[in-house]
Amino acid sequence: MRYADPSANRDLLGNRTLLFIFICAFALVTLLQQILYGRNYIKRSLQFGWQSGDQLANWTGLFNVTDDPAVQSGSDSSSRYRPPASDQGGGKPILRVKQSELFDRWKSLQMCRWAMNISEANQFKSTLSRCCNAPSFLFTTQKNTPLGTKLKYEVDTSGIYHINQEIFRMFPKDMPYYRSQFKKCAVVGNGGILKNSRCGREINSADFVFRCNLPPISEKYTMDVGVKTDVVTVNPSIITERFHKLEKWRRPFYRVLQVYENASVLLPAFYNTRNTDVSIRVKYVLDDFESTQAVYYFHPQYLVNVSRYWLSLGVRAKRISTGLILATAALELCEENPAESCYIVFLTCGLRAGKH
Ligand SMILES: *[C@@H]1O[C@H](CO)[C@@H](O)[C@H](O)[C@H]1NC(C)=O
Ligand SMILES: *[C@@H]1O[C@H](CO)[C@@H](O)[C@H](O)[C@H]1NC(C)=O
Ligand SMILES: *[C@@H]1O[C@H](CO)[C@@H](O)[C@H](O)[C@H]1NC(C)=O
Ligand SMILES: *[C@@H]1O[C@H](CO)[C@@H](O)[C@H](O)[C@H]1NC(C)=O
Ligand SMILES: *[C@@H]1O[C@H](CO)[C@@H](O)[C@H](O)[C@H]1NC(C)=O
Repeated sequence: MRYADPSANRDLLGNRTLLFIFICAFALVTLLQQILYGRNYIKRSLQFGWQSGDQLANWTGLFNVTDDPAVQSGSDSSSRYRPPASDQGGGKPILRVKQSELFDRWKSLQMCRWAMNISEANQFKSTLSRCCNAPSFLFTTQKNTPLGTKLKYEVDTSGIYHINQEIFRMFPKDMPYYRSQFKKCAVVGNGGILKNSRCGREINSADFVFRCNLPPISEKYTMDVGVKTDVVTVNPSIITERFHKLEKWRRPFYRVLQVYENASVLLPAFYNTRNTDVSIRVKYVLDDFESTQAVYYFHPQYLVNVSRYWLSLGVRAKRISTGLILATAALELCEENPAESCYIVFLTCGLRAGKH
């Protein structure tokens, strides 16, 4: 792993063990992303991250990253908004990683042992609340995005969305979650990393479970990934590719969401201009089918600030993955005193805070 400026790390996270755990956390997310693009046990069409190639560009610490046109085209900023590979006719997973090798690395990550320093942890939380403030800004709400706001997109920075009455009414009044509301949270990706892990029960026992990108939770996988889902993110490119942008039949998409029963659906509607219409249509679909599932949109400023935060710590990635964004939010929304519980079951059963 490459960290640009070690002294910056020390300022924010004086305690080395705490730093280490976040390095591990980040590595795990990266690992997930690699698997996402490599061999997978879910349908290929479900694989794409919403950030059009939701993987880490120059991440060379753990594995070899092969040529990805969306990544390689480098500094041209338009490449950031390019559709995933399948839009370009390919559709093949681009990154191929030896699974056995990944598994070994993953195991070594699991060895990561540490003790929580509560004062350090609280300090870290207050740093996060100053930079990012998930309890107020994770989603667009009527409070943080009043009627008439000219909302800036995260990546199409010249693009602006005028918040009109119609979309304003779709927003929740305020953030539905507050600081340290949940004791134990889980952020579960949709890579194959949990295969045969038997983590299902542990994930189900969490108070709050985030899942990335419509992962399968059918009976076949229950033992490994559990079923409990409180928030599920959806990648608009999946809606575009598999569900015809919801311009045709909507029931197939509705059925997919129904699998997650009471889960709220979270979309990056204001990530780039292409995402907006399809994301808003998800709300219409759920309303039409009289679903009780809530629809939320990431606040673009939150995404910007979280990315900026991690980049300032020297994380060398072109984009911050959805998994890392959710994990960052979980750090604020979950338990104040993590020493008393496991507070993040992070993608695997391996990495956990607390309980030592
Ligand atoms: C990634 O590496 C390539 C070649 O080493 C370089 O041209 C490019 O600017 C790098 N991108 C980032 C985001 O660091
Ligand atoms: C990465 O690629 C280089 C050259 O292609 C190879 O020598 C090296 O062993 C690879 N590393 C891993 C971890 O696969
Ligand atoms: C926790 O971190 C603080 C501040 O860095 C330090 O003064 C304290 O000794 C640490 N406590 C333990 C138990 O390591
Ligand atoms: C994001 O960062 C900017 C600049 O550091 C700050 O003014 C703003 O309040 C932050 N936004 C949130 C949602 O915390
Ligand atoms: C969904 O909510 C209903 C009523 O609150 C509850 O009975 C049911 O168990 C929930 N389903 C899941 C999967 O949590």
